[in-house]
Amino acid sequence: MSQSSQHWIASAGQPLRGTLEIPGDKSVSHRAVMFAALADGTSTIDGFLEGEDTRSTAAIFERLGVRIETPTPSRRIVHGVGVDGLRAADGPLDCGNAGTGMRLLAGLLAGQAFDSVLVGDASLSKRPMRRVTVPLAEMGARIDTGADGTPPLRIHGGQALHGIDYTLPVASAQVKSALLLAGLYAHGETSITEPHPTRDYTERMLAAFGVDIEFSPGRARLRGGQRLRATDIAVPADFSSAAFFLVAASIVPGSELRLKAVGLNPRRTGLLHALRLMGADITEENPSTHGGEPVADLVVRHAPLRGVQVPEALVPDMIDEFPALFVAAACAEGPTVVTGAGELRVKESDRLAAMANGLRTLGLQVDETADGATIHPGQLHGGIIESLHDHRIAMSFSVAGQRADGQVRINEIATVATSFPGFDQLARGCGFALESPAA
Ligand code: S3P
Repeated sequence: MSQSSQHWIASAGQPLRGTLEIPGDKSVSHRAVMFAALADGTSTIDGFLEGEDTRSTAAIFERLGVRIETPTPSRRIVHGVGVDGLRAADGPLDCGNAGTGMRLLAGLLAGQAFDSVLVGDASLSKRPMRRVTVPLAEMGARIDTGADGTPPLRIHGGQALHGIDYTLPVASAQVKSALLLAGLYAHGETSITEPHPTRDYTERMLAAFGVDIEFSPGRARLRGGQRLRATDIAVPADFSSAAFFLVAASIVPGSELRLKAVGLNPRRTGLLHALRLMGADITEENPSTHGGEPVADLVVRHAPLRGVQVPEALVPDMIDEFPALFVAAACAEGPTVVTGAGELRVKESDRLAAMANGLRTLGLQVDETADGATIHPGQLHGGIIESLHDHRIAMSFSVAGQRADGQVRINEIATVATSFPGFDQLARGCGFALESPAA
């Protein structure tokens, strides 16, 4: 695989043209395999993301005794074992780079009769887990974290969980989902309120698996003791992966790309609103639904962008898209101001620092604050970018390179395979100048 090369060289290429199929949604793929594993009966997942993160989750369920077949790439047939059918693994469960995998599993495994240990890679091992372990402890779970509340998570099974009425201190779909999964194993009702609505895939998909769950934006409630009924899941294309191409085509003159059947769950499309505020030319065509999720082709054409103050209300709906937004802002007319986005400091890397430092390396002025930044646009130059083993930082700078007047070398690109295997081939195919020199 070309992504085994350890760096990319990006430079200004041609106008971007073509029709692209973006791989399956990461959030949906994680949940599909988890819920199918817990269901009674056999479920087929189509469009499963063949990324390292989601494969780690599937491998964990195999270690927990679930039979999962891969008849063709992007398809999984999951032979569910029922909510009480998982069995102890013979050692630590490796979530790889995936915060979603680890946090959701923490909730799910807290309700089992057996002990489990969750570990992750160097990046995941630095990420905060108390946001899940503290409310799970309130439900009666026993989970030990490493120093500073980081992984590994040692989960003691056999605890009697009880429901909780919990208001999340930070908007987090991962925390909400962990508590709902623990809630399935709890006595009584679990009720969650969010400071701002976050992606509701857990709620929608539990309902599709036959769970009686009440939810509306910002709220979710379920009773413990319910079973899941197998169902087939069609995973839409991942908006967060599409985001790099939305920005790239917007900033490279003469570009026009069609991104096929991209998932447009309203809790994911904040970047679409932000780019349109900036003047981007993006239209939605062939709208339909795919596995209960709204999808449409996104047609994006180059357009001059202007800097904006990103509305704080959009932040949770574009939390994974800020690296891409920073690149759009770098190529706009006038500064772009981001506030209320402190969560970016605890993603796969400190994304505020990574993007600010990287854009400075390429010659721009970026003023960083505790929870945001002001990006002053200008001509991007060549330079060496440390992506800090963060997939979205690496892909964002490959986009920035398309507007640079020199070569942008992007180091530490292997983690791109966690969310977007084949990104570089797809990018080259539509006109990116992006080399993957042999390591
Ligand atoms: C995710 C939720 C978000 C997002 C992550 C995937 C999910 O994290 O950043 O990439 O699938 O629930 P938070 O819920 O922690 O903000």
